[in-house]
Amino acid sequence: MGFPQERPRRTRQSDVWRRMVRETRLTPDAFIYPLFVVPGTAVRNPVKSMPGIFQLSVDEAAKHAKEVAATGVPAVLVFAAPDQKDPKASDAWNPRGLAARAISAIKEACPRLLVWADVCLCGATDHGHCGHVTAAGAIDNDTSVDTLAQVALNCARAGADAVAPSDMMDGRVRGIRELLDANSMQSTPIVAYAAKYASSFYGPFREAAESAPAFGDRRSYQMDPANSREALREVLLDVEEGADLVMVKPAGPYLDVIRQVRDLVRVPVVAYQVSGEFSLIRAAAANGWIDERAAVLETLTGIRRAGADLIISYFAPEVAQWLRP
Ligand code: PBG
Repeated sequence: MGFPQERPRRTRQSDVWRRMVRETRLTPDAFIYPLFVVPGTAVRNPVKSMPGIFQLSVDEAAKHAKEVAATGVPAVLVFAAPDQKDPKASDAWNPRGLAARAISAIKEACPRLLVWADVCLCGATDHGHCGHVTAAGAIDNDTSVDTLAQVALNCARAGADAVAPSDMMDGRVRGIRELLDANSMQSTPIVAYAAKYASSFYGPFREAAESAPAFGDRRSYQMDPANSREALREVLLDVEEGADLVMVKPAGPYLDVIRQVRDLVRVPVVAYQVSGEFSLIRAAAANGWIDERAAVLETLTGIRRAGADLIISYFAPEVAQWLRP
């Protein structure tokens, strides 16, 4: 049956038709909003490369979390950038450290908002790498896993509803699961940044999280953008080690990976629309070169269509407001 019997435009002719045959929908329930926490009180530092995004002190982060919750966004992802940075990332596993204080303050201010804690060493190390650095300048996998597990336990004890390791060390999901379980935290889910690529799109984030590496780059632990079979291997390993959700990051340039991961596993798939993806749209819109709302909704719809169940996005609160009936 060809033309003129087949006329796909028939179900495209009005808004009602388009609504009825729409295959992919965005809902506020699918979004997670990142928050950047810094020391001090009453601090709201604009992140220059991410207009509309701020570094917030703990008190301001708690206030902002309330506003975010009011838009209908169900979860935030907390990143801490402590002043005190050392080779051991001490602040990240200190119960009085910045991340722990931020998590408990946000939970206290909005108990029903889920708080996901980013688990990594880069924000708290003086060298800015995601793991421990050996004398030879390499990133040491196994001692890093031990510390990451301590960081995750610290976050869980502070009240985090999920821990999200973003370091890309081998075996960290199992290491974290074992330490959490040994300390009565068996109910805390692990959101594994399973396929995290060494991406140029993290540039603006590194200003926000103060986590740019002081030397070298992250290509010995984050994935080569050219690889997708390897992404599936990473995802399967993380699921086997006990990941409750798996993540693909960045989102936009890796839609094929999101689709393959969605078809491979049964756990929820999260995609992270990262800082560079945000800033590109923001900057073009600020110049009047693109319709921001339409572009944002199109990118997020594409990420959903590719197979993401949940999306981490800096646009989350705005999107939740746009989606209100
Ligand atoms: C830290 C981390 C990064 C991001 C999330 N966690 C940066 C990096 O790996 O360099 C990127 C988030 C974004 O760009 O929005 N391990």
